[in-house]
Amino acid sequence: MKDVIAFVDQNRARFVDELSAWVRIPSISSDPAHSGDVRKSAEHLGAHLRALGADRVEVWPTAGHPAVFAEWLHGAADSPALLVYGHHDVQPVDPLDAWVSPPFEPAVRSNRLWGRGVVDDKGQVYIHVKAIESFLRTVGRLPIRLKLIVEGEEEIGSANLNILLREHARDLAADFVCVSDTAMFGRGLPSLCVGLRGLAYLDVFVDGPAFDLHSGSFGGGVMNPVNALARMIAELHDDDGRITVAGFYDNVLPLTQADRDAIANLPFDEPEWLRAAGSPATWGEKGYSTLERIWARPTLDCCGISGGFQGQGAKTIIPAHASAKVSCRLVPNQEPDEIARKVTEHFLRAAPKGVRVRVEMLHGGRPYLAPTDHPVYEVAKRAFSKAFGKATVLIREGGSIPFVRTIADATGKPCLLMGFGQPDENSHAPNEWLDLDNYHLGIKSAAYLYDEVARMRIDQPKAAATAHESE
Ligand code: BES
Ligand code: MN
Ligand code: MN
Repeated sequence: MKDVIAFVDQNRARFVDELSAWVRIPSISSDPAHSGDVRKSAEHLGAHLRALGADRVEVWPTAGHPAVFAEWLHGAADSPALLVYGHHDVQPVDPLDAWVSPPFEPAVRSNRLWGRGVVDDKGQVYIHVKAIESFLRTVGRLPIRLKLIVEGEEEIGSANLNILLREHARDLAADFVCVSDTAMFGRGLPSLCVGLRGLAYLDVFVDGPAFDLHSGSFGGGVMNPVNALARMIAELHDDDGRITVAGFYDNVLPLTQADRDAIANLPFDEPEWLRAAGSPATWGEKGYSTLERIWARPTLDCCGISGGFQGQGAKTIIPAHASAKVSCRLVPNQEPDEIARKVTEHFLRAAPKGVRVRVEMLHGGRPYLAPTDHPVYEVAKRAFSKAFGKATVLIREGGSIPFVRTIADATGKPCLLMGFGQPDENSHAPNEWLDLDNYHLGIKSAAYLYDEVARMRIDQPKAAATAHESE
């Protein structure tokens, strides 16, 4: 390992330059105008992996954006196989004028790389790519069998991922999965994430009169769909911050006292967290701490609302339409489809006479809770700590990565969420940044992980490697 680690040190600056070249490609998956760029991003990564030397590199097309697959199979035959997942698509960049430097012209300031996708998730994918390179250029091969899948639709709900997983079940078979797409709990604090929330995202449409009416002639005479929607949304929470949808909490796995103690023991600086949010006060479900609420309790939030007159000045109308985007973050054992059905029924029942309500589900993802009693979690903690020189803490995240539960369900294999972001990294926001120490030490963490996993022995490698082909 000495040579591998020395290689990471010697190539620190070049590794940043190479990541920057990839960040320049604006692979915004939600914007059809950028679909060519998402393809370019996949091809860029594919070409880079081919130049490194892999046994196989393929760009897999989907009905949407392409994914990149690569594999290195020269680890010891009885060493475990590790599947590494990441995504190369990025979030939109608006509002553009809030960026200090342009989102797709990566720049280094204050030991950070700034640009869209630097941490979510291109930088974290490159952490693995550069760890792989460091083995190939020193030892000549990887110590384990390694497969890499980098998808192009994570930020829009991974709609085609299930199809890819089914078509390529044999290619993706592995003993363990590693995902680097989360944040560390604090600066320089290695944090293994053991829980993610799921998601159910809905569009709510409310239709009233056939067209916008004069509010003098009709106001007070017919139901206003904007008023009706505002009231329905306001009534989704009670005074204790609990969600009023019938059955919403039915399958929520309660926090154990041990869970709560573990969370309470983390060095959480709530005022600092609030400062990063730029919000004047915390809010949420009564009876739970802030961390408990964002990690282990479900939410229902209106992400956007529109309807009626939006222009300058005044226009006196009763609008014909209103609509809202509603997202629910889910926790074990809630199911996205079931929650979507309950929320839909709630809106249909709550709709006052005089409007028609329609609800459509946009996408969903299931929550994840890691089987932390599996020995691979101790192995991952050790690798993470070796690189950062500190004890690794176990955390959860409030965000969602649909792939994690999907692959865990399909294969029954444990998933390691080894993330190298920071809580205030501005992902999805203007001025996204990647801490360059985290990038550098992340590469070492990944290298140590491969090295440590290589020493694990899988009892029945054959059975393990083929377990989900029959799915
Ligand atoms: N990297 C994030 C997931 C994440 C968010 C991890 C916050 C840790 C903290 C991922 O790219 C993401 O943004 N996921 C979406 C998923 C959705 C579009 C299905 C999310 O959480 O909103
Ligand atoms: Mn991500
Ligand atoms: Mn994201």
